[in-house]
Amino acid sequence: MKHLLKLKDLTSDEIVEILNLADKLKYENINGIKHNHLEGKTLGMIFQKSSTRTRVSFEVGMYQLGGKALFLSSKDLQMGRGEPIKDTARVLSRYLDGIMIRTFDQQEVQDLADYGTIPIINGLTDSAHPCQILADLMTIREYKQSFKGLKLCFIGDGNNVANSYIVGGIKLGMEVAIACPKGYEPDEVLQKWARENGSFTCTDSVSEAIKDADVVYTDVWMSMGQEQEREKRKRIFSKYQVNARVMKLAKKDAIVLHCLPAHREEEITEEVFEAHSDEIFQEAENRLHAQKAVLVKLLGNN
Ligand code: CP
Ligand code: NVA
Repeated sequence: MKHLLKLKDLTSDEIVEILNLADKLKYENINGIKHNHLEGKTLGMIFQKSSTRTRVSFEVGMYQLGGKALFLSSKDLQMGRGEPIKDTARVLSRYLDGIMIRTFDQQEVQDLADYGTIPIINGLTDSAHPCQILADLMTIREYKQSFKGLKLCFIGDGNNVANSYIVGGIKLGMEVAIACPKGYEPDEVLQKWARENGSFTCTDSVSEAIKDADVVYTDVWMSMGQEQEREKRKRIFSKYQVNARVMKLAKKDAIVLHCLPAHREEEITEEVFEAHSDEIFQEAENRLHAQKAVLVKLLGNN
């Protein structure tokens, strides 16, 4: 594994190895066991979009591993004034040991990897959010002990998070069911791959997707960059809400995940959010541990 550009590039074994290392690092973190796997290493973090969890968890993660992280807002970089990404990649590769980038187009992440000589980590694009799903898989295993026989459901927009959730779920042998309005389905190529490689359905019926689900996942109806579609999307997605009524159709012990930030009374009600806040904030915490595992794998010496 040289980069983390999207989950599809990883084998199932590589994903499980990251999750196992994340569990170990979490245990060590909780028990105050320190190590310096990344002493002397520097991670550049390029942000073209806002972030709370990704920025802070990567920065703290590097610090805890004995390294350093640099926050690089694209507004302040020459990139923001039109310097080509392929030049940025070749320059930053000479200073840094790795780059995490949050941007719009997946091609920019690919270009960094193609032109640079250091590991590149996708911190969210319009089409994928692999770091989020690694933390989610870690959380699912903590709550359910194993992935075997689980049904994952996602209700809402077939966005970056939904795309990566499909890949993570299918790669680890789970059933994945998506409910979204027509015209807002996840990536078509990914859907085809999911059907060919596991148990996958995509429907416009919430009750069908959530039936007997072990994990219920949702995300905002308007992703970053779609703010101008707010009113239209609120209308289109109004039936795709995770609320107490639809939760009755999931398994009794179903957990609810949300990548955050959450918009109460839009994709999820305050009632369901607070009833499942333990899972949701454990999921947020696991961003730190899962990403530390990714950093050790990509930037570590062994
Ligand atoms: N879930 C997530 O990626 O959060 P941020 O946008 O705050 O980084
Ligand atoms: N789908 C959301 C995820 C935020 C973490 C977005 O792209 O804005």
